[in-house]
Amino acid sequence: MGCSHLLTIVTIVLLIRISVQNENIECPLKCDCLEQYVDCSKKNLVSVPRIPKWVGKLDLSYNKLTKDVTDGFYGLLSLQSLKLDKNALTSIPTFLHQNQIEEISMNRNNISAIDVGHFPENSTIKSLSLNSNHIKVIEEGALNNLTNLVILKLNRNEIVSLPNQLFKHQSNLKILELNHNKIHVITAMLFKGLSSLETLKIKYNNIENIMDGAFFGFKSVNLLQLDHNGIQNISKGWMYGLESMTTLSLSNNLITQIDFGSWELCTSLEELDLSHNYLIEIEGRTFQHLTNLHTLNLSYNNISAILQEAFSHMVQLQVLFLNRNKISWTVENMSGPFSKLQNLVKFNLSDNHIKSISSRAFEGLSNVVELDLRSNNITSIQQHAFNSMSKIKKLYLNSSSLLCDCKLLWIVKWIRDKVEQKYITATCAYPAEVRGVVISRLKEDNCGDSPKPRITEHPKTHLAIKNRSANLVCSATSNPFSNMTFLWRKNNGNISNPRVYENVTLTEHGKPHATSVLVIPDVTHSDSGKYQCVVSNKFGTTYSSKAKVDIVTFPRFTQTPINVTVKTGDTVTLNCAATGDPPPEISWKKDGGNDFPAARERRMNVMPTDHLFFIVNAKTSDMGIYSCAAKNSAGTIIANATLSVLQEPSFIRVMENKEVTSGDSVVLQCMITGSPKPVLKWLKNGSPIVPTERHFFTADDQVFVIIGAESSDAGHYECEITNKLGTKKDMIELKVLPPVAIMVKEEDMTGIIIITVVCCAVGTSIIWVVIIYHTRRRMAGAVHNNFTSESVKMTQVVHSDSDSPHMFPDNLSEHSSCKDSGTGDSAKQTSFDGMPTDRSEQVHFETTVCRSYSPVPEAHKLLPSSFKPSIQVCVNTCVTPATYSFSSQSGNV
Ligand SMILES: *[C@@H]1O[C@H](CO)[C@@H](O)[C@H](O)[C@H]1NC(C)=O
Ligand SMILES: *[C@@H]1O[C@H](CO)[C@@H](O)[C@H](O)[C@H]1NC(C)=O
Ligand SMILES: *[C@@H]1O[C@H](CO)[C@@H](O)[C@H](O)[C@H]1NC(C)=O
Ligand SMILES: *[C@@H]1O[C@H](CO)[C@@H](O)[C@H](O)[C@H]1NC(C)=O
Ligand SMILES: *[C@@H]1O[C@H](CO)[C@@H](O)[C@H](O)[C@H]1NC(C)=O
Ligand SMILES: *[C@@H]1O[C@H](CO)[C@@H](O)[C@H](O)[C@H]1NC(C)=O
Ligand SMILES: *[C@@H]1O[C@H](CO)[C@@H](O)[C@H](O)[C@H]1NC(C)=O
Ligand SMILES: *[C@@H]1O[C@H](CO)[C@@H](O)[C@H](O)[C@H]1NC(C)=O
Ligand SMILES: *[C@@H]1O[C@H](CO)[C@@H](O)[C@H](O)[C@H]1NC(C)=O
Repeated sequence: MGCSHLLTIVTIVLLIRISVQNENIECPLKCDCLEQYVDCSKKNLVSVPRIPKWVGKLDLSYNKLTKDVTDGFYGLLSLQSLKLDKNALTSIPTFLHQNQIEEISMNRNNISAIDVGHFPENSTIKSLSLNSNHIKVIEEGALNNLTNLVILKLNRNEIVSLPNQLFKHQSNLKILELNHNKIHVITAMLFKGLSSLETLKIKYNNIENIMDGAFFGFKSVNLLQLDHNGIQNISKGWMYGLESMTTLSLSNNLITQIDFGSWELCTSLEELDLSHNYLIEIEGRTFQHLTNLHTLNLSYNNISAILQEAFSHMVQLQVLFLNRNKISWTVENMSGPFSKLQNLVKFNLSDNHIKSISSRAFEGLSNVVELDLRSNNITSIQQHAFNSMSKIKKLYLNSSSLLCDCKLLWIVKWIRDKVEQKYITATCAYPAEVRGVVISRLKEDNCGDSPKPRITEHPKTHLAIKNRSANLVCSATSNPFSNMTFLWRKNNGNISNPRVYENVTLTEHGKPHATSVLVIPDVTHSDSGKYQCVVSNKFGTTYSSKAKVDIVTFPRFTQTPINVTVKTGDTVTLNCAATGDPPPEISWKKDGGNDFPAARERRMNVMPTDHLFFIVNAKTSDMGIYSCAAKNSAGTIIANATLSVLQEPSFIRVMENKEVTSGDSVVLQCMITGSPKPVLKWLKNGSPIVPTERHFFTADDQVFVIIGAESSDAGHYECEITNKLGTKKDMIELKVLPPVAIMVKEEDMTGIIIITVVCCAVGTSIIWVVIIYHTRRRMAGAVHNNFTSESVKMTQVVHSDSDSPHMFPDNLSEHSSCKDSGTGDSAKQTSFDGMPTDRSEQVHFETTVCRSYSPVPEAHKLLPSSFKPSIQVCVNTCVTPATYSFSSQSGNV
C-alpha cells in the first residue's frame, strides 16, 4: 500500500521533471517555480543561479547578489518581469540583450548612479523601480533608450539635481516618482518630453525654487505632489503645462505668498492641499480662477485674515479645512465671508482663535453637513448664526467658555432640533450658577446681562493730513466692568507696533469705561485705510465699526500771482499753481466775488493746464484784487495779487458852453476818467475856484454847481485833470443872461434841493447826477401854479456808455445794476409828480449808490449855510446801506 503510493508520487515528480526538461532547464535547486514564475527570493544567493530559459517572471529579491549579475540573465528571452530588490547591487546590470523585459525592480540596493549603456535601444522596459538606493548621479542621456517607459520610481535616493532633458525620450511615461531625494531646484523645461505624464511626485526634497516653465510640456498631468519641500512662493510662472492637473499638494512647505493669477493656467484643479505652510492672509484674488475646486486644505497655516471675496470663486468647493490657523475676526465680525460656498459639505474651523460667532458668519453655507468648531474658546454665538446651515448634522463644539446669557438661549432649542447632540460638549463659563453646564441642558428661564465689552465710542472716519499726527479713539465698557484689552486693526489686518494710549475713566454716572487711543504720529500715505478696534475681555470680543482714514496733504502754492501794473490795452498774465493730495482745484475771484468785467467782455481766459490767467486788452474796470484759491479736501489756500491798470486822464465828454438866466442854477460838468484817478482842478478865468455858499462841487468835483447864477459868474471855466500819466484841460464859457420877468421874493420861497448822485455798479464812469432845484412860492397861488412845473429843474444825467442823456426818474432803476429792490421804489419816490405842496411835509427820496462814493454828505457840507436844507436824501449803498437825511426847513436861497 505504502509502496504503491510512493510509486505514484515518484511517477508524478518524474513526469514534472520530464515536462520541465522538455522546456529546457529544470527549476533551479533552491527556487520555486510555477509555470513561468521563478521565485528565488530570500535564498541567500550570492550569484544568479542557472535560470531556465522559459522564465517569464523572476524574483531574486532578498539575496546577496552583488556587482555583475548580467551574465545570469543571458538568453532569458522570455523574461518580462525581474525583481532584484534588497540585494547588494552597486550598479545597474546591463540588459542590452533582453528584448522582452518590461518590468524591473531594483529597490533597496546600493546603486549609486544611472549611467549610459545599460539598456538596449528601443528598450521594452515599461516599469523601472530604483527606490531606496543611493543614486546621486543620473548621467545625461542615461534614459534615452527607455522609450517605452511608463513607470519610473526613484524614491529615496540621493539625487540632488537632474540633468537637463533627461526625459526627452519618455513620451510614454505616466508615473514619475522622485520622493525623498535632495532635489533643490526644478529648472525650466526639466521635464520636457513627458507629454503623457499623469502623476509626478516629488515629495520630501529640498525644493526651494521652481523656475518659470518648470513643468512646461506636461499635457496630461493630473496629480502633482510637492509636499515637504522648501517652496516659498506660488506663482503663475511655474503653472505652465499644468492645465489638466486636478490634484496639487503642497503641504509642509514654506509658502507665505500666492501671487495673484497663479491659478489662471490650472483651472481644472479639484483638490488643493496647502496645509502646513505659512499663509497669513487669503485675499480676494488668492484663489481666483479655481472654479472647479472640490477640496481645499488650508489647515496648519497662520491664516488670520480672510478677505471678503476670498472664497467667492469656489462655487464647487465641498470640503474646506481651515483648522489650526489664527482665524478670529473672519467669523467674529465679517458678513458672509463664506457666503459663496453653497456646495460646501464639510467645514473645519477647529483650533482657531474664534471667540464669538457673528450672525452672518456662516451665511450662505446651505449645504454644510459637518462643521467643526472645536478648540476655539467661543464665548458667544449670535442668534441666527447657524440658521443658513439647514442641512447640518454634525456640529462639533467643545468650548468651555460660553457666556450663557439671555442672548445664547436660542441655541438650546436649535441644537435640540437640528443636530446630533453627541458632538456638542460645550459648557457655560458664566454666569456662575450654570458654570460647567452643557449648553444643551440649559434651562431657558434664567439668564442675565451680558458681561461682554460694549463699545461706547467707535473710532471715527476722518481725513488725516500728511505729516501731522492723527488719533483714533475707541471706548468700551462692560457690565460688570472687567479688564479689557484693545487691539487695533487696519484693513482687516493687525497693526504691528501701534502707538496706543489706554486708560480707564469714570463717566458722570460713576461707571468705568476704558479708552484706547491709537496715535499715528506722522501720517504718511500708507496709513490710509479702514481702522477698527477690537475689545476683548474674558467673556468675549466686540468689534467696533470701521473708520476710514484718508490721507490728504494741504495744498501748497508752487506759483503765486504777483502784483501787476499795466496800461490799458495791455495783456495781463497771472500765474497760480499748487500741489496737494488730492490735487487742489484752482479758482479765481476778483475783489472777493465772481464778477469779472473782462470775462463779460470776453477778454479773459483761464488756462487750467498752464495755471495761467489772462486778460487781454486790459481796462480800468479790470483793476482789483485777484485771489487765486487752491482747494482740496484738506483745505484751501488763497493768494492775492493786485492788478492796477493805468489810463491817461481823459474827458468822457466834451464840456459844453452854457448860457443861463440870471438867478437860475447852472451845472458845469467835467466828466473824466483815468487811472489812477486823476486829480481835478477847476479854474475860473485862470484862477482856482473857491467854493462859496452858492458855488459847490460834487461828484468828486466833476460837477460844479452854481446856485442862483449872477452876472459875476460869467466867464471861462477850465477843468484840468492830472494823473501820473499826464495832464489834460478843457474849457467852456458861461454866459449869464439878464433875469426873466417873474421875480420871486427870496423870503417867500421854500427851496428844496435834492441832490443825488447815483453811480451804479458798472463802474466809476457811470455817474448819475441829479440836481433838482425846486422853489415854490408859498403865498402866491397863481405864481405857485405857474411855477411848480417849471421850477423842477431836472436832471443832468450823464452816462458814460451812452451819448443821450437820460431823464432822471424814469430810467434810474434801469441803469442800476444793484440787486437792491429799493431801487425801483426810489425811482417812484424821486418822481416829482407827487411833490408835496405843504412845506411842512418832507420829501423822502431814496436812491442807490453802488460802489463807493457818495457825494451827498459832501454836497450837504457845501450847501450854503443860509439854505437850511429841507430835503431828505437817502442813499443806499449796495454793500452797506446808509441813509443820510436832511430835514426840511424853510430857508433862503
Ligand atoms: C554601498 O556602496 C558603497 C560604495 O559604492 C560602499 O562604500 C558601501 O559600503 C556600500 N553599502 C552597503 C550597505 O553595501
Ligand atoms: C542605447 O542603445 C545602444 C545600442 O544598444 C547603445 O549603444 C547605447 O549606449 C544605448 N544608450 C544608452 C544611453 O544607454
Ligand atoms: C528603434 O525604433 C526606431 C523608431 O521606432 C527605429 O527607427 C529604429 O530602427 C529602432 N532601433 C532598433 C535597434 O530596433
Ligand atoms: C518669493 O516671493 C518674494 C516676494 O515676491 C520674493 O522676495 C522671494 O525672493 C521669492 N522667493 C523665491 C524662492 O522665489
Ligand atoms: C482657551 O481657553 C483655555 C482655558 O481657558 C486656555 O488654556 C487656552 O489657552 C485658550 N486658548 C486660546 C486659543 O485662547
Ligand atoms: C486688571 O488688570 C490689572 C493689571 O493688569 C490687575 O491689577 C487688576 O486686578 C485687574 N482687574 C480685574 C478686575 O481683573
Ligand atoms: C484718558 O484718555 C482720555 C483720552 O485720551 C484723556 O482725555 C484723559 O485725560 C485720560 N485720562 C487719564 C486719567 O489719563
Ligand atoms: C500787492 O499789493 C497789495 C495792495 O496793493 C499790497 O498789500 C501787497 O503787499 C503787494 N504785494 C507785493 C508782493 O508787492
Ligand atoms: C485777499 O483778498 C480778499 C478779498 O479780495 C481778502 O478778503 C483777503 O483777506 C485777502 N487775503 C490776503 C491774504 O491778503
